[in-house]
Amino acid sequence: MASKFQAPRGTFDILPEAARSRGRLEGAAAAIFARAGYEPIATPVFEDTALFERGVGQSTDIVRKEMFTFEDKGERSLTLRPEGTASVCRAYLEHGMHKQAQPVKLSYLGPFFRHERPQAGRYRQFHQLGIECIGTDSPLADAEVIMQLSDLLAELGVPGVELRLGSLGSLEARRAYLEELKAHLHAHEAELSKDVRERIDINPLRAFDADDEGTQGVMASAPTIVGRLEGEDAEHFEAVKSLLDAAGIAYVVDPTLVRGLDYYTRTIFSFVCDALGAQSEIGGGGRYDGLIEQLGGAPTPAVGFAAGIERILLALDEEEPAAGRDAFVAIADPSQRERAMALAVELRHAGLSAEVDLAGRGLKGQLKHADRLGARRVLILEADGGAQLRDMETGEQRPANPGKLLDEMKERDS
Ligand code: HAM
Repeated sequence: MASKFQAPRGTFDILPEAARSRGRLEGAAAAIFARAGYEPIATPVFEDTALFERGVGQSTDIVRKEMFTFEDKGERSLTLRPEGTASVCRAYLEHGMHKQAQPVKLSYLGPFFRHERPQAGRYRQFHQLGIECIGTDSPLADAEVIMQLSDLLAELGVPGVELRLGSLGSLEARRAYLEELKAHLHAHEAELSKDVRERIDINPLRAFDADDEGTQGVMASAPTIVGRLEGEDAEHFEAVKSLLDAAGIAYVVDPTLVRGLDYYTRTIFSFVCDALGAQSEIGGGGRYDGLIEQLGGAPTPAVGFAAGIERILLALDEEEPAAGRDAFVAIADPSQRERAMALAVELRHAGLSAEVDLAGRGLKGQLKHADRLGARRVLILEADGGAQLRDMETGEQRPANPGKLLDEMKERDS
């Protein structure tokens, strides 16, 4: 029964089997974030295009080539959100959250959209969970944010995870460093790939990510910012590292770490997983002390991360077993339909999972179906008003008191 329609390229359906593992992941994340005081926020799936152009940055691949942008009927340019930080900062400003006690700690989860070349772990509609801690420049916040993702990956049991840590320095330090890096790239233009050469002045940091030999050779001798952090930038980075050390979180300092968004300052980090192949980053983030100002607010330091839900699930590669059912209410005679439905509702209201046959099966078929559903017990309602209780694990069946079926079920549970 194949339809001529398919999910669009780079998107996928989340079928019930897969939804179960997602549910476990999302539940674990919500509990971890809540325990650390991160409150959920949800923002729209689309925003004004200008928000991302300003927030994410004109020089990034995301803004240059990957946004799903469209015009609405009022000829406004809207874009399906490619990431969450710009939206959360927009909401922070729009709702005057800067007037609350700082920092404001928010968590989110949902679909995001990037027009990338689809492959394993890379989709056009994907899901992120993340947190943002807005309104403090304390290194404690950087460490706290990193710990949230570290805790989540540990609790879920994601294998082979490595935390990479870097720093881009303050906005001014970063600006000065970028000039130096551009000069280095210009001095070696002939050895660079065409792509990197064309973007020297737009986004020189991306050269660290290049996979061609020529560029890599040039980058081996390129200046790195981590090596020359000064003053408060250096102190901040040292403080983040010692907080992670104190918390027993292992990391490697990676002076060549770059991220695909323009807003980062100071700390940047990335959790990679060796089980993932080419798309090895499970999640990452960093500090973005200039973003809120960029969006029209007062200078407001902030830090956060986002992780790819599909990538975490790929790294885990395990199926959550089906939950089964506490009960299935079967009927030995069609006259018992209403009674069966009423009993199933009563069981459900008492907190048990219960199903009735919706497909007109005979008793044998119902028992088979109950087994398929993983029902632990079947109540068989008989035409004379009697009932039988069948334990599907042992196959044992006995008469049950028709007036006390709920009690009988509960008794068995205890
Ligand atoms: P990002 O590194 O662009 O950061 O994305 C975060 C995570 O989303 C990635 O590590 C990856 O797991 C997942 N991801 C990204 N693109 C795709 C894709 N096409 N398919 C599947 N998964 C994907 C951000 O989005 C920042 N907003 C993170 C942040 C929050 N920084 C500060 N606060």
